[in-house]
Amino acid sequence: MSKSLLVTGSSGLIGSEVCSYFSRELGYTVHGVDNNQRAVFFGPQGDTRWNQSRLSRDLPGFVHHELDIRDRQGVLELLHAVKPAVVVHTAAQPSHDRAAAIPFDDFDTNAVGTLNLLEATRQACPESPFMHMSTNKVYGDAPNRIALRELPTRWDYADPSYAEGIAEDFTIDQSKHSLFGASKVAADVMVQEYGRYFGLPTCCLRGGCLTGPNHTGVELHGFLSYLVKCNLEGRSYTVFGYKGKQVRDNIHSLDVARFMAAFVAAPRVGEVYNLGGGKANSTSILEAFSLVERYSSKPQIYTYSDQHRSGDHICYYSDLRKMRAHYPSWDITQSLEETIRQIVESWRSRA
Ligand SMILES: NC(=O)c1ccc[n+]([C@@H]2O[C@H](COP(=O)([O-])OP(=O)(O)OC[C@H]3O[C@@H](n4cnc5c(N)ncnc54)[C@H](O)[C@@H]3O)[C@@H](O)[C@H]2O)c1
Repeated sequence: MSKSLLVTGSSGLIGSEVCSYFSRELGYTVHGVDNNQRAVFFGPQGDTRWNQSRLSRDLPGFVHHELDIRDRQGVLELLHAVKPAVVVHTAAQPSHDRAAAIPFDDFDTNAVGTLNLLEATRQACPESPFMHMSTNKVYGDAPNRIALRELPTRWDYADPSYAEGIAEDFTIDQSKHSLFGASKVAADVMVQEYGRYFGLPTCCLRGGCLTGPNHTGVELHGFLSYLVKCNLEGRSYTVFGYKGKQVRDNIHSLDVARFMAAFVAAPRVGEVYNLGGGKANSTSILEAFSLVERYSSKPQIYTYSDQHRSGDHICYYSDLRKMRAHYPSWDITQSLEETIRQIVESWRSRA
């Protein structure tokens, strides 16, 4: 019998990629958990049913569970019934701007939903690797305290100790996180604790900008996907502050799934990794406009608002050295250019 994988948020960007990768490349039977909550958080533009249908059509034996991770009893029963060999938790309220309007939904989903899954895993399958998608927002806006230098099209760190980016020992304390960042901190620390205290093989993956062709990008979440969508539809993209030179590091969802497979092959306990594209896959918004124009052959229309998003990072890229040291067979395989090419192609085919 093939091993089983349980993925929450299976209709989302990362969840769907993990379902496909573990099914196709590793022969797992996949159980997806998603209730299309993204459409509730972001309206019809955030609807992920198209991706759920794609998985049901393309993956042999894929089982979809229409379950809200806030439903504690439902989560406990599902984990006891499936007893998955691997748990990947990607379901979340993912936007820091949205969280301010829905604080209870945000915390109940991100913090309490994660606790529901952890405790259900401890009861039903404590040996199974548990991977949690955390975020670089757990560092709050503390990265903005690093000295910066302004280049023609981007900000960069002026302090040489950050030449490789932000490492996992960076402070998560005493900075502005947004309510989203705070609910993700609660989840992140709880995932570590189920490792350190109970010995479960857990890890937190603190994502930079996670992206790829299967993102349902909206203005409040999914920056590159949404930017490409605006470009193709000839709609104006609003740049919020920092002169459009703010820097994000972008990692293709396939490289996220590949890292998870490496962790499953050699699990560790209570680990934390900064999982982004690193400096090589970093871009400012202005630079992203040029790259997207190259692949879409359409000009990017945009407006500029002086007001930056509250708690937004001016410059953030992940230091990938810990991941590479622990899992030397893993590395980034999808360049930023290739990723953008795929996102352009995907929005064109969805239109
Ligand atoms: N995309 C990014 O740039 C990024 C960056 C850092 C961290 N992350 C984290 O990675 C994870 C995955 O992000 P993504 O971009 O794939 O998000 P996504 O919104 O594309 O996917 C999340 C999925 O979870 C589902 N979901 C939400 N609440 C649910 C609930 N209560 N019960 C069941 N299903 C629910 C949604 O319907 C959606 O399909 C999240 O934890 C997010 O915080 C994402």
